[in-house]
Amino acid sequence: MLNVVLFGPPGAGKGTQSENLVHRFGLVHLSTGDIFRANIKGETELGKLAKSYMDKGALVPDEVTIKMLESEVKKHNAPKGFIFDGFPRTKAQAAALDAFLAENDTTVTAMLALEVPEEELKTRLAKRAETSGRVDDADPAVIQKRIDVYQKETAPVAEFYRDQDKYQGIKGLGTIEEIAQRLYQALEA
Ligand code: AP5
Ligand code: MG
Repeated sequence: MLNVVLFGPPGAGKGTQSENLVHRFGLVHLSTGDIFRANIKGETELGKLAKSYMDKGALVPDEVTIKMLESEVKKHNAPKGFIFDGFPRTKAQAAALDAFLAENDTTVTAMLALEVPEEELKTRLAKRAETSGRVDDADPAVIQKRIDVYQKETAPVAEFYRDQDKYQGIKGLGTIEEIAQRLYQALEA
């Protein structure tokens, strides 16, 4: 299996580039943010809980997130692999993913980390706010909070994969196509 953790701060292009990787490698795309938003739309209990954190730019608690991710992985029978977009976001989530994949005789192949300067992230998210309908894009203070939470709680997850020699930084500035080519090269090398 080819299991890719597509990593990066809010607005780095994880969702955009996941689409490219799905087409190129036939992987299953699992975005925890998208799954939470689908639950919010469906007015599920999970959605109600997730919304109370997401609207503020805070992380949904690990226990809930890990359980949800595992149940999503289990829905797929004999996939070529997964793109994990927006997960893991804490070291506890990274450890849980490793353990869960090991139980299923597989592992994370690589973490590809999209590197984008903070000013560019803010520009992209402010622009997306015009069309996304995402509550967490609408307020610059919430965008800043998401970036701060990323730096404090999520960026350290890179260490977890560096220690396993699975980390690769990818320059996330340029056209969508240029960045896609960098990701393909990293995975095909
Ligand atoms: P999530 O949905 O994962 O949001 P995020 O990490 O904040 O990132 P985004 O989806 O905003 O950005 P992206 O990197 O996907 O970029 P995109 O391709 O859209 O999480 C939302 C919330 O859910 C979290 O805050 C948290 O509350 C909760 N959550 C989710 N996962 C969780 C977890 N594991 N644990 C706990 N809580 C969790 O691109 C952004 C914009 O830029 C788009 O408009 C795009 O068109 C544009 N763009 C893309 N590439 C380029 C380019 N090369 N040049 C110019 N513009 C570009
Ligand atoms: Mg996204």
